[in-house]
Parts: sequence; structure tokens; C-alpha cells
Amino acid sequence: MSVQDLARRPIEIVTELPGPRAREMIGHARSFLSPSLIHVYPLMVKRAAGCMVEDADGNVFLDCQAGVATCSTGHCHPAVAAAVRAQAETLIHICGTDFHYPGYGELCERLARLAPGDDGWQTFLTNSGTEGVEAAIKLARYYTGRSQLIAFRGGFHGRSLGALSLTASKTKYRQGFGPLLPGVHQSHFAHCSDCPIGQAYPACDIACITEGIERDLFAHTVPPDEVAAIIVEPVQGEGGYVVPPPEFLRRLRAICDKHEILLVFDEVQSGMGRTGAMFAAEHFGVAPDVIVLAKGLASGFPLGAMMARREFMTWPSGSHGSTCGGNPVCIAAALTTLDLLENGLCDNATRVGAHLEERLTRGLAEIPIVREVRGLGLMIGVELNAPAQAEAVADLCYRRGLLVLGCGKRAIRLSPPLVITKEQADSAADLFIAACAEVAVTP
Ligand SMILES: Cc1ncc(COP(=O)(O)O)c(C=O)c1O
Repeated sequence: MSVQDLARRPIEIVTELPGPRAREMIGHARSFLSPSLIHVYPLMVKRAAGCMVEDADGNVFLDCQAGVATCSTGHCHPAVAAAVRAQAETLIHICGTDFHYPGYGELCERLARLAPGDDGWQTFLTNSGTEGVEAAIKLARYYTGRSQLIAFRGGFHGRSLGALSLTASKTKYRQGFGPLLPGVHQSHFAHCSDCPIGQAYPACDIACITEGIERDLFAHTVPPDEVAAIIVEPVQGEGGYVVPPPEFLRRLRAICDKHEILLVFDEVQSGMGRTGAMFAAEHFGVAPDVIVLAKGLASGFPLGAMMARREFMTWPSGSHGSTCGGNPVCIAAALTTLDLLENGLCDNATRVGAHLEERLTRGLAEIPIVREVRGLGLMIGVELNAPAQAEAVADLCYRRGLLVLGCGKRAIRLSPPLVITKEQADSAADLFIAACAEVAVTP
């Protein structure tokens, strides 16, 4: 059976989980691996196509996590695989920081045409989202000549020391690694169903910004004219798939305009069609000054991008670079990914995402452990009452053949490849609802 036949197979669990082969392989590998790796469940993936994943024992899973929201065009999309194969036979590496090659400029130009707002965009290509965030921090400091940064509780921006200084989703990521970058201030994100300052939207008039940034940070800890950038995920990912009201991002835009602070949107998770729009920013009608992309940009090949409007790209030749960032093979994957996103997959994310969210909202309405279903496109979060319930639901889904991941304090994210069909979304909803119902009655 070819790998593409796998894309059309249904869920099929044929062994206990993990099966004997997976157990043996994981057992053998474990002693050689960094213990920092998470491995949320003991899945040993052998191959994958579309939305389906086959493990080493022949069990077939429906993937509603897509390599943490990364396999945007589905696993091993034939067009992506063909583009990568052709590029690998032509030029694998030469270093985009020091040399020109076809593709680098084409990708930057296409991203510039797609990005929100009218102004010209220029792009620095990276290997990862974290590296893109680091580049954004450096550019913002360089351009403004200021050192301070504002980020948000619940935010995730990566794990290297600069990006980690912005990350505030879990203390586990920081524990033992300090001191981090000085001059980073955390404010409240508009998580309205669990308001960090105990108010109710819309009566609050987005008090998280007035209280958190204007009356707190700007009054007590950091003068606005020392702030280089405000860095925010337009939809929080790791922090719980939290969609803020549009006014939250509009207010941030206004604060940045008033104090000449750069507004950086980290769209590493929310970008590249995940929410049904190429950039989540489009849903909110807010154009940032800097955008960071990665994950879905190259369908799983390691590629990120830090885009900034031309007027802010003042750093001179040699001030920043990357040996493999913008690798030709990753770029080939990205150009084909963009073709696929523009020619149907963004629309599919809107259509199937709305269907999946509606099925979950309806099916989970009477289940007492479920607090909220929320999302945009195929970035859907389900918040439960307690972290242990979220863990139990994710584990039960895995055992029944559905791959999902936790996020936030007690939520589960559904972020399938954007090729997911309505029928596959129905299977996912059925399994997910059944798992929640079962956990709800488990003592
Ligand atoms: C919003 C956001 N920013 C940055 C990152 C870091 O990206 P990477 O793991 O590619 O370095 C992530 C990863 O999950 C993310 O979700």
C-alpha cells in the first residue's frame, strides 16, 4: 500500500497501545534521548499521509494535532514531496545570508503580497519560530534604540533565552533557567471567559489593557518611551487557543502608534491559513509592524520568517544572519505550501473548521466537565474544568485513535492538517465528544 493510500484509510487500532514494536523501539531509544523531550503519549510514528498517521505496529490514527499545528497541507502532500525532491536534486544548501539563489526572493515577495496592510514588507528567513522571535527582538531594539519589551501572560514564543523571556504560558519552561533577558514586562491577555482581572466583556471596555499596560506597567514599571516592542500572539496557541476580542488588538495598535512602539504579531501558530485566513491578523482588522511565521509555512520543513515593514528594516548588512535559515529545500516546500493554501486550503480551514467547532459546541453542551469551545478556523480549543480531565480526555482520544494535544491550564487543542475533510472532522468530533462524556462519568 502506498503512503498516499493511507490518507484515505479510516481509524484502525489493531494492537494494545503502545503495540509491541512501538514499545520495543521507544524502550531502546529512550536512554539516548534528552529527558527534556515531552512525548505526551507513547506513539511511534512510522509514516503519515493527509490526516492519517500509521504507527510502527500498523495502528492508524486520525491526526488532529498536525505535528503541533505544522503539517498545514497534510502529511506528505504529493505536491510538497515532489517540489522537495526536485529541489534536493538541484541545490540543497549554499547559505542565504551570504549568497543569492532562486526561491529566497520569490518567497519573500509572495509573503509581502499576502501580509496585512498596504506598506512594503521585507523578510528575514529562519529555521524556526523561536529564531524568528529572536530576530524580531533584535530588530525592534535596533530600530527603536530602546531595550524594553512587553509580552503577555499565557503567551508562548519559544524556548531560547530571548524568546523564553517573552514566554509566560507555564513556569515549567522557565524553572531553573534564569536569569532571563532583563526588561521584559508581562501584561494580561484578553482571555475573556477567564478574565485575568475578574471583569466581564464587553462592559469591561478592555480593562486588561487600560489596567495592565497603561495604569500598571506605564505608570509603575516602564516608561512607554523605553519600550521597543509589544509582542503578542493574535490568537494565543500554547496558552489555550484563546481568541481575544478585536478591540484588544486594536488597542494595542493604538498604544504602539501613540508611543512609537513596534507591534509584533507572533503568528507562528495562528498563521498560514490555520484560522481560515492566511494571517490571523486579518480577522481583527489590525496590521502589525512585524510578523513572525514558522510551523505551517513549509508544511513541516524547518522554516520560519521574520517580516517587517521596510521602514523598520534599518539593520545593516552583517548585523544578523543564519547559516541554514531559508534553506532552498525548505523554500521549495514553502512555495508549494503557499500555492495549496491559496488554492483551497484556507477556504477548507474556514469551512471544515466552522463545521467541527459547531459539532463540538453542540455535542459538548451537556457534558458537565466542558467549560467552553472556542476557536477560529481549524484552531479550536476545548476548555475543561480541570487539568486532570484534559489529560484524561487526550489520553482516551489517543487510545481510540484520535491524536490531540493539551494547551493552556486545562484545555485541549484541535489543530488538524488543513486538508481535513468534513467526514474526518465528524469522526474527530464523535470520538472527542465520547471521550469527554466518558471522562465526565469517571470517578
Ligand atoms: C506562537 C509561537 N511562537 C513561537 C513558537 C516557537 O516556534 P519553534 O518551535 O518553531 O521554534 C511556537 C511554537 O509552538 C509558537 O506556538
